[in-house]
Amino acid sequence: MHLRKLPTSLFILLLTLAGCGVFGGDAERGRKIFSAEEPISAVNFACIECHAVEPDGATGFMGQNLANIANRAGSTVPGQSAETYLRIAILDPDAYLSGGYQEGIHPRTYADALSDRDVADLIAYLMTLRSGEDP
Ligand code: HEC
Repeated sequence: MHLRKLPTSLFILLLTLAGCGVFGGDAERGRKIFSAEEPISAVNFACIECHAVEPDGATGFMGQNLANIANRAGSTVPGQSAETYLRIAILDPDAYLSGGYQEGIHPRTYADALSDRDVADLIAYLMTLRSGEDP
């Protein structure tokens, strides 16, 4: 009789996992974190302070315009998928220096400040940025 309950339990489990972002991040929440509507923490810069996300957006303080990042993330480092490239760009920014910037500018503190879910949500958001042209 336990088996008869299984499909319902499984369904609820899957729903819960989906809600936690296990099957992919929540792009809308990622947008909020990126733009500081949902602040990461008092000690960290918000992404938007350095990165513009509109094609003609004023460039941030110091960093690339990310309006088209979803289209180039998968072809920037050979062998790295877009998601892997973005994860490394956020958590271990000096591993690959994009845009000709020197190391140490991208904050190194996000690995401590962001939860796995935060990172998944940020990546889901970045994967929606496809303006079609790299500024
Ligand atoms: C203090 C400025 C600054 C902040 C804040 C910042 N970045 Fe960056 N970011 C940079 C710089 C500079 C680079 C280029 C050097 C490098 O690759 O580390 C970069 C590179 C990137 C790249 C790779 C861009 C490309 O064209 O390949 C991504 C993706 C990225 N940042 C995402 C983020 C996200 C998400 C956040 C917030 C959690 C963030 N950045 C916060 C400055 C910043």
